[in-house]
Amino acid sequence: MTTIFSGIKPTGHLTLGNYLGAVSRWVGIDQHRADALFSVVDLHALTVEHDPARVRRLSRQTATLLLAAGLDPDVCTLFVQSHVDEHARLSFLMECVATDGELRRMIQYREKSARAAKSGESVRFSLLSYPALMAADILAYRTDEVPVGEDQRQHVELARDLAVRFNHRYGQTFTVPRAVAPQVGARVMDLQDPTGKMGKSHADGSGVIYLLDDLAAVRKKIMRAVTDSGRDVVYDRAERPGVANLLDILAACGGGGDPAALAASYDSYGALKRDTAEAVIEVLRPLQERHAKLAADPGEVEGVLRAGAGRARSVARPVVDAAYAAIGLLPAV
Ligand code: TYM
Repeated sequence: MTTIFSGIKPTGHLTLGNYLGAVSRWVGIDQHRADALFSVVDLHALTVEHDPARVRRLSRQTATLLLAAGLDPDVCTLFVQSHVDEHARLSFLMECVATDGELRRMIQYREKSARAAKSGESVRFSLLSYPALMAADILAYRTDEVPVGEDQRQHVELARDLAVRFNHRYGQTFTVPRAVAPQVGARVMDLQDPTGKMGKSHADGSGVIYLLDDLAAVRKKIMRAVTDSGRDVVYDRAERPGVANLLDILAACGGGGDPAALAASYDSYGALKRDTAEAVIEVLRPLQERHAKLAADPGEVEGVLRAGAGRARSVARPVVDAAYAAIGLLPAV
């Protein structure tokens, strides 16, 4: 059976980008067609400046939102990364297989460290080593497929390279994983700056739709989205990124089919924005209702996470033990 693993880090409130690029696919397809494991990867949230109480709060909220979005604990495994020691155990081995140059080439590291350097700040060492931990997350489950948005593809490629290298040097241990992304929605852009990704840690949230945003605010953000100087509605990601982003969002939120074909049915930006806003609201409304119910019963979410961690541990433990033995560490007796 195919094994699927993916994760989401609790560094901010979940966005429409997270939902369309990853979560909606986990819910709609992935959990039903494979042995699927999904994780709130809280250790990754420590790679940037963080407030301990906020990380705790966001971890709980992220798990609750994933269940509200439709992850079904009867068919998939949902857990918190730090509850399963195997991730940290395997991460060090991955650091011993990866090279310094390889990690420094990661786009997210280059962008974030360059931004910090400009304002005279330093970044945590773990921001550099983070893709080794991500590789461990994936390889510990002998994962075949990793459903992610476009921005994570390079990290999954690295996990592939590390799996191949480890197997070659120390004997067949890991499955070589591959990234899979949705047809539309793999890169949702910021509504105020459609040349940049919609991200959960943006300081100014006016271009970002959060899954728990008030629905009137969602409508306002979409109606105020930056479009382009032209007037006709055409799908052109390079020349008309604002309009293309709205068409992508509309298509991915059930507006039907392919964004280029959708463009033909609009002759004004106003109508496109109105329909996009309605489509997004129809996705968020039931999700928010389920979230409110689940949040009122934290014991239920905790129970799901406890069972999920137990299941995840039982899968990862023998794989990580095998990697420890293969690389030359003396087994504990
Ligand atoms: P994270 O937490 O930034 O994002 C979670 C998922 O959401 C996708 N995503 C987007 N998709 C489309 N448009 C956007 N604007 C957008 N923003 C985010 C991401 O591609 C991702 O799929 N390093 C990972 C977390 C991680 C992980 C893993 C993922 C840790 N270990 C192992 C897969 C497997 C991250 O920072 O995702």
